[in-house]
Amino acid sequence: MRISIFHGVHDLSAALARDLVDRLHRTPALILGLPTGRTPLHFYRCLVTLSTEGHADFSRATTFNLDEFLGVAPEQAGSYQQYMERHFFRHINIDRRQIHFLNGAAPSADAECARYEADIAAAGGIDLQVLGIGANGHIGFNEPGEHLAARTHRVILRPETRRANAAPFGGDPNNVPTEALSMGMATILQARSIALMATGAEKAECVAEMTRGPLTTRLPASFLQLHPDVHVMLDEAAARRIR
Ligand code: PGA
Repeated sequence: MRISIFHGVHDLSAALARDLVDRLHRTPALILGLPTGRTPLHFYRCLVTLSTEGHADFSRATTFNLDEFLGVAPEQAGSYQQYMERHFFRHINIDRRQIHFLNGAAPSADAECARYEADIAAAGGIDLQVLGIGANGHIGFNEPGEHLAARTHRVILRPETRRANAAPFGGDPNNVPTEALSMGMATILQARSIALMATGAEKAECVAEMTRGPLTTRLPASFLQLHPDVHVMLDEAAARRIR
């Protein structure tokens, strides 16, 4: 794992946005895997600025988002699709047909997960997967537990994950869906390149475990150690337990 430590979230986000835009220059039809959550908000702001200023052309890019809440329709407030619209997609020149999401309201969750895997494969696989990390060590919604799913799957969210996602659901964790659909560990690890962003002291412990600890389903992010091209991008607070 390559680890970079930045002064703060602004520097980190700007560096990752520049890296992504450089890749886009080299490969205009870039296939991106994208996260949601609080951490990437400034990263999306940087990308929008670069795009508005004419430095980034997303017209040939393709995106696949990592996960979506089960039972939440794409147009519903609280869906990750709405998050991405608000913070990123409506501000850039991406071809709408190239935006891919798991549909949390699909009639069959299993069929929807299989459809997503097939769409990623048909696109040729993900070039750059951007990730956040939960304080419990999850990536996407691959929650810590006895086992991990390899492929895109239906997952039961842990209480701490529902608490962390309460904001778009009126601040009440009880309103957060109990289940979600998420790319699996193998889906994520098949991306050709991975960039993981983590900021804040509450991520320091899981970040340290992820980089030096054993591979364990108790800390899904630890499996990133298997990947040959992972860039871990941290602010000083998230890096403080790394020796
Ligand atoms: P956060 O979420 O950026 O809101 O902390 C990260 C994650 O759960 O992957």
